[in-house]
Amino acid sequence: MVNAEPFRSPPAPLAGEGGRGRAAEPPGLPRPLGLLAELTHRCPLGCPYCSNPLALEGRDAELDSATWARVFREAAALGVLQVHLSGGEPAARHDLIEIARAAREAGLYVNLVTSGIGLTGERIRALAEAGVDHVQLSIQDSEADSADRIAGYRGAFRRKTALAAEIVRLGLPLTVNAVVHRANIDRIAAMVELAAALGAGRVEIAHVQYYGWALRNRAALMPTREQVERAAATVAALRARYRRQIVIDSVVPDYHARFPKPCLGGWGRRSLNVTPAGRVLPCHAAEVIPGLEFWSVRDHPLAEIWEHSPAFRAFRGTAWMQEPCARCPRREQDFGGCRCQAFLLTGDAAATDPVCHLSPRHHEIAALAAAQADRPYRYRRMPASAGA
Ligand code: SF4
Ligand code: FES
Repeated sequence: MVNAEPFRSPPAPLAGEGGRGRAAEPPGLPRPLGLLAELTHRCPLGCPYCSNPLALEGRDAELDSATWARVFREAAALGVLQVHLSGGEPAARHDLIEIARAAREAGLYVNLVTSGIGLTGERIRALAEAGVDHVQLSIQDSEADSADRIAGYRGAFRRKTALAAEIVRLGLPLTVNAVVHRANIDRIAAMVELAAALGAGRVEIAHVQYYGWALRNRAALMPTREQVERAAATVAALRARYRRQIVIDSVVPDYHARFPKPCLGGWGRRSLNVTPAGRVLPCHAAEVIPGLEFWSVRDHPLAEIWEHSPAFRAFRGTAWMQEPCARCPRREQDFGGCRCQAFLLTGDAAATDPVCHLSPRHHEIAALAAAQADRPYRYRRMPASAGA
């Protein structure tokens, strides 16, 4: 997803751009702001930190463009402002232009999240004409050889930088998404420099989050504490140096934080995630939690799913919380952290996210953060039977 990269918070409505009109939120059920549309799991890259599920959905399972158009209209009626056209690599869909047009016609702000592979200059121009408002382009490193090795795709770096130039030439706002881990974290300054040179208005320093393929490669990707500390100082200096040129977004990586992130702004509060086959999830990783029942857009309107589907209701609000979250003054700020991470690390999806220093399992995080191993990446690949 997110061109086979971790999707973090739904990007905040971009200043002055988000939404094409939205009524005030009524009391009671929250309204979603963002829809992550995973158009496909197909992707030419093999990033070892991909947060797509290990069981990737094949081409035959994918929703058609008419269904996506209905989903976008239902999302807009529900109050969604932004759609993130993502994957896998969304450009693997031959009907991407039609899908982007449908999203724009539904009144949504359209963010294309891409690896850049599969997009020619002509195609990005057509996408801009169809209504894409913003492009989020991933880079794997500032150096071509390393970037291609991380992506598992020779020539990816050169193609990405060429596409970035075309995006900027068209006047489309560009965010560069730099996913950082042990192999490239020491080149954050060079990656920011590259993003600025490419003409991006924003660069997101996205520390790997350990779900999906990244969890499988955790020891190979995990930076050392010293690297994380150096990176924080580097980012602070870069923000001062580039303050008039480029916005630099970066947060402390989970395993090195004291408090957890309010994952996606809280479960079932701000965003929806639609898989290539049409299942609607509260977050991209929710299917790791056993026993949750996910409804599909093939069977239910989006509003009904948002309000009534068992998966969305499971951890909405605070009533499900255990101690220490249940009586913590921060419970409505971070919502107890990430449910998927809590499950993956403790086996209990209702537990306090162990990233929190108040969690009784917090000491286990420190041990994992200190566990590095130089082993080959296990690249994300679709099985040949999936119609990649
Ligand atoms: Fe957040 Fe729970 Fe930690 Fe309090 S105890 S800070 S609510 S995760
Ligand atoms: Fe955080 Fe699922 S990824 S709640």
